[in-house]
Amino acid sequence: MTAQRVNVGIIGGGLMGREIAAAIRRWPALIDHPADPQLVAVCDINPAALEWFDRIDSVRLTTTDYTELLADPDIDVVYIAVRHDLHEQLYIDTIRAGKALLAEKPFGIDRNAADAVVAAIAQTEGAFVRVSSEMPFFPGAQWAIDYVRSGALGRVVEAKCAFLHSGDLDVTKPLNWKRQKQFCGEAGVLNDLGMHTWHVPLRLGWTPERLLGLLQDIVTERPGPDGTPLPCDTWDNAVIHSWATHDGEPFVLTTETKRIAPGEKNTWEFEAIGMSGGVRFSTKNPKSVEVFAIVDVPGIGREQSWQRVDAGSQSVWPTVTGPNFESGFSDAILQMWAAFLAERAGRLGERFGTVRPDEAALTHRIFAAAIASHEDGVLTTPAS
Ligand SMILES: NC(=O)c1ccc[n+]([C@@H]2O[C@H](COP(=O)([O-])OP(=O)(O)OC[C@H]3O[C@@H](n4cnc5c(N)ncnc54)[C@H](O)[C@@H]3O)[C@@H](O)[C@H]2O)c1
Repeated sequence: MTAQRVNVGIIGGGLMGREIAAAIRRWPALIDHPADPQLVAVCDINPAALEWFDRIDSVRLTTTDYTELLADPDIDVVYIAVRHDLHEQLYIDTIRAGKALLAEKPFGIDRNAADAVVAAIAQTEGAFVRVSSEMPFFPGAQWAIDYVRSGALGRVVEAKCAFLHSGDLDVTKPLNWKRQKQFCGEAGVLNDLGMHTWHVPLRLGWTPERLLGLLQDIVTERPGPDGTPLPCDTWDNAVIHSWATHDGEPFVLTTETKRIAPGEKNTWEFEAIGMSGGVRFSTKNPKSVEVFAIVDVPGIGREQSWQRVDAGSQSVWPTVTGPNFESGFSDAILQMWAAFLAERAGRLGERFGTVRPDEAALTHRIFAAAIASHEDGVLTTPAS
């Protein structure tokens, strides 16, 4: 099979822009993928950020004006990783320019912004847009998802998805755009990290019907550019308890989305417990998946047992990596891109895909309901 050349442009050459550039250079690790992406253009308003991309010889255009990148007819796919308040305009312009888009979370600063992007997709023939969320592409996470889909849980009792950071434990960390409502959005940490905790539940069909939000703004000031403390007005941590349904039966679904989770650097966890089975995975022990079963223990009898299984290296798209080897964050990014470009080529099939625009728009409704619930202290139903 001949892979189709896909010319990629990046808008926003910061933390994530560089990560994606590196993932595209690892593309030969994928076996028989239908796409052959090459990074050809990068835009950042900060010329210093563009310098990093000089090391990538396929890049033929660097610019500080994103409209120049969008006007380039040879660019097929654009990845955008900029501040949340800029998403709406840049995403809509990219869609209208006829480019496929891998958008960064939270897909607009709020519900109205997300809805405006969804409307632009509906108005643009052939538009293909997905949203970034890489943690479910860890092999162990894929196993956990497949386990749930197998029906082995029986009646679901409860499920949890968590994203736990600890970078903000350092109160001397300077204020940046992610810690200011005007740039990050009202939903704070939920805008920043909530896609990580909702991608898998929503893909499993677990839409929260009623929810209780518990939000914390723990660090209320951070040093500004000259060291003077300035307001840090975003939510740091958010726990959402909700009712969802699996096979027609209600169960408790909890998400924890935290910037201040001491001891956790970038931990994504998923757990689902049912009457006949259970499954747990955490990126803290990225090889290990735990499954629950009632088993025959020799000499003892039938007992409840959590068992640990090593997941190996293979995720959504096969790679040349030995199947028993370990997987990490950059592998998950590569797999997310493999899923995105395979889906664009119509070749993803039943495999797990990146977040769809309708799912991203739904997360904003969940976040708004969580804020309302927190403020009113009552269970709230997300808007439809
Ligand atoms: N998927 C993930 O795991 C993950 C991780 C971190 C951040 N993100 C998301 O990625 C996005 C960017 O976050 P980041 O950490 O890379 O931010 P960052 O601040 O490191 O980088 C953003 C870059 O965008 C540039 N920029 C600002 N305005 C621009 C414009 N008009 N045109 C072009 N470039 C512009 C900035 O100069 C900067 O270099 C956010 O939506 C964030 O939520 C996702």
